[in-house]
Amino acid sequence: MSEQTSYYPELSKEILPAKGKLGVLLPGMGAVATTFMAGVFLCRKGLAQPIGSITQMQKIRLGKRTEPRFPVIKEFVPLAEMKDFVFSGWDIFEDDSYQTAVKAGVIPDALLNAAQKDLKTVKPLPAVFDQHYVKKLNGPNVKSAKNKMELAEKLIADIENFKKKNNLSRTVMVWCGSTEIYMKPAKVHQTIDLFEKGLKANSKDIPPSMIYAYAAIKTGTSYANGAPNLSCDVPAIMELAKKHRVPIAGKDFKTGQTLMKTMVAPGLKARMLGMSGWFSTNILGNRDGEVLDDPQSFKSKEVSKSSVLDAILQADLYPELYKELYHKIRIEYYPPRGDAKEGWDNIDIFGWLNMPMQIKINFLCRDSILAAPIVLDLVLFLDLAQRAGLSGIQEWLSFFFKSPMCRPDLEPEHDLFIQHLKLQNTLRILMGEEVLDHSGLDYYEARDASLESTGFEI
Ligand SMILES: NC(=O)c1ccc[n+]([C@@H]2O[C@H](COP(=O)([O-])OP(=O)(O)OC[C@H]3O[C@@H](n4cnc5c(N)ncnc54)[C@H](O)[C@@H]3O)[C@@H](O)[C@H]2O)c1
Repeated sequence: MSEQTSYYPELSKEILPAKGKLGVLLPGMGAVATTFMAGVFLCRKGLAQPIGSITQMQKIRLGKRTEPRFPVIKEFVPLAEMKDFVFSGWDIFEDDSYQTAVKAGVIPDALLNAAQKDLKTVKPLPAVFDQHYVKKLNGPNVKSAKNKMELAEKLIADIENFKKKNNLSRTVMVWCGSTEIYMKPAKVHQTIDLFEKGLKANSKDIPPSMIYAYAAIKTGTSYANGAPNLSCDVPAIMELAKKHRVPIAGKDFKTGQTLMKTMVAPGLKARMLGMSGWFSTNILGNRDGEVLDDPQSFKSKEVSKSSVLDAILQADLYPELYKELYHKIRIEYYPPRGDAKEGWDNIDIFGWLNMPMQIKINFLCRDSILAAPIVLDLVLFLDLAQRAGLSGIQEWLSFFFKSPMCRPDLEPEHDLFIQHLKLQNTLRILMGEEVLDHSGLDYYEARDASLESTGFEI
């Protein structure tokens, strides 16, 4: 065969089987968490399909185009099954997950009724919460302790009890809590030792989301951060994750407007069209929107959303096309819309002879409907990663995040299509399959000149 092959046998993994029950822990049991759980319950009953989930619906091509195989991802890699999930979590409100889902108003009544019995069984445990970090919220279901280390210990005890009570073999945690105020990495975040001292000293630089991440890792629970706050994206937590052999990922689920942005921008750049402005605004009226109405929480979101275009367009490489780009992002809290967000994008581009053109995108989306399958895929892939012996930052999961975590000396990848290739090729590598780069020239040209005499080979 003269075709190009790329295998990474040294990186393929022995993956432990997904035996037993998988505990799914959700700090923050609001709209996203309850929509996710309701969907899982309905899928288990055959009353819904897991639309939007890569693991459940996407088929991955393996092998040459002349003899392709297309297994569904969940059948290609040894993933846990939704029937083996057991849920728990924390929230500052005492409502069970059914009551919360009713208030969130995302799921139509008929489906909600069908999931009612299951949702009612999932009641939030008292949360680790401090209003300093989420100004617009306050609730009664909150733990108290003499310092943050003791709060972490209480969370660790919750996780251990949950494991024991349900005879769980593995646990995964996905932060679905509110967006905390904007914070920059500080000294206390630099090493495990400084972080633990900070927990004992009640450091202001340690918000609740970091305490959950710490507790997760200490109990061997893999952790993903669905919000833009720092949480596990600091050196101390990364080091802890490596030490305890726990996979982590983040941050901020890539759903509505940013999903669109990372689909459209790579296309415009691939065609070398210039861009002078991108204005994004949206209206939403759920509790997330209310939290983001506080300027300090909005700042976390704004930073997470704005890094996307800079990274995709690479103005340093293409100053004539992107140096003057004006990127502005707004979020307006507008209660009548609930979870049915509406996003507007105005994109000012220019082409041949500098001629200006405009693109308008009006996305009438549903926030939690777009986020729920991401939570499902993250749970399944993090569990897979842990069984495959991977630990620390899982950059191949960038596909799911607005602000992907990566090794500090690397630039994050934002282009949705590169992220997708990264994800699929990582699965191929883990399973000892050939990596596909889609170049395709090997179907037309002999790779090795000495083989050309044998004719056209594929
Ligand atoms: N829905 C999307 O499309 C989307 C996309 C990206 C990111 N996110 C993020 O996901 C998170 C959840 O979104 P949502 O729409 O479900 O919001 P939500 O307000 O409905 O739910 C968040 C829940 O977290 C709880 N909470 C806050 N702080 C907590 C703490 N310290 N411990 C435990 N519970 C806590 C709140 O009481 C609330 O019930 C938000 O941070 C949001 O920014 C959502």
